[in-house]
Amino acid sequence: MYGQFSEMNHRIKRAELSMDEFCVSDDGLIFPEIGPWAEEKYRLIALYDHLFAKGMKDKWDVRVYVDLYAGAGFGKVKGAETRLMGSPIVALNVEFPFDRYIFCEQDPEKLDALRQRVRRLAPSADVVFIGGDCDECGEEILHAIPRGSASRKVLSLCLVDPYDFGFKFDTLKRLSAAYMDFMVLLAAQMDANRNYENYMAAGSTKIAEALGVKDWRQRWEASNLPRNRFPVFLAEEFAQSMTTIGYLPRKAHDMKRVKTYDNNMALYYLALFSKHQRAYEFWKDVLKYGTNQRTLWE
Ligand SMILES: C[S@@+](CC[C@H](N)C(=O)[O-])C[C@H]1O[C@@H](n2cnc3c(N)ncnc32)[C@H](O)[C@@H]1O
Repeated sequence: MYGQFSEMNHRIKRAELSMDEFCVSDDGLIFPEIGPWAEEKYRLIALYDHLFAKGMKDKWDVRVYVDLYAGAGFGKVKGAETRLMGSPIVALNVEFPFDRYIFCEQDPEKLDALRQRVRRLAPSADVVFIGGDCDECGEEILHAIPRGSASRKVLSLCLVDPYDFGFKFDTLKRLSAAYMDFMVLLAAQMDANRNYENYMAAGSTKIAEALGVKDWRQRWEASNLPRNRFPVFLAEEFAQSMTTIGYLPRKAHDMKRVKTYDNNMALYYLALFSKHQRAYEFWKDVLKYGTNQRTLWE
């Protein structure tokens, strides 16, 4: 199973990557419930993991994959019998595996299940498991990344995939001390837009922590954008914050907008942040790849 996704980008483009490749069977361990849209998420993440791992392997001496919200390794689609591998297992299965994997998960039961699954499916992979809140484990994560030097270049790809708009910009800023690209799931529609009134309330700090700016409400008002542009505003504010720590500018149209299959409702943006143009060249393939192609999975 380890390294099973070969030539993934070509097969996805040719609509040959079947959902079966992500399906797993019940192994008696915990299966957190996942939304039906998770299928699309894993396909997009798998495609970029693959492009990054392959494209960077001759340019960098050490490639590291970091999953800040790693989960249990497997999940079960809500209301269905479908069981899918989660982002850490997807990353372990790229054709040219990363040199090291760092998985952070705060729920001990999920972390234990992940550990057992990784041991079974990728016994030879170099994996560091970190139990705890990723916002408090920055030092431990940085410490687990091999030290780079002029003769040993180390590049990391970090997936930021929380349940909601609940990540903290300061954590990303801290981790960016290592040479690191970020693939971030921005739940701008699924969470922030639906909970607009709550987050606009003065006592809520969630959006300020995610964006790393305290005055975002004033900026939103000053923008004079209509209410339905709130998700775009958030996505671009976050991208703006990333430029303050050296990442290349991104607009909402550079992010992959993922929608539900049924009513075509927007759920979130999947965005890539890098300090180098090369990563965005790979990302273009993810942007080109159409979502809502349910037939691919059937
Ligand atoms: C949306 S799930 C993502 C799972 C995984 N990325 C996947 O797709 O398979 C979010 C996970 O993050 C964990 N989590 C939530 N807050 C966390 C935090 N502050 N630090 C580390 N893990 C956290 C949850 O327990 C959950 O397993």
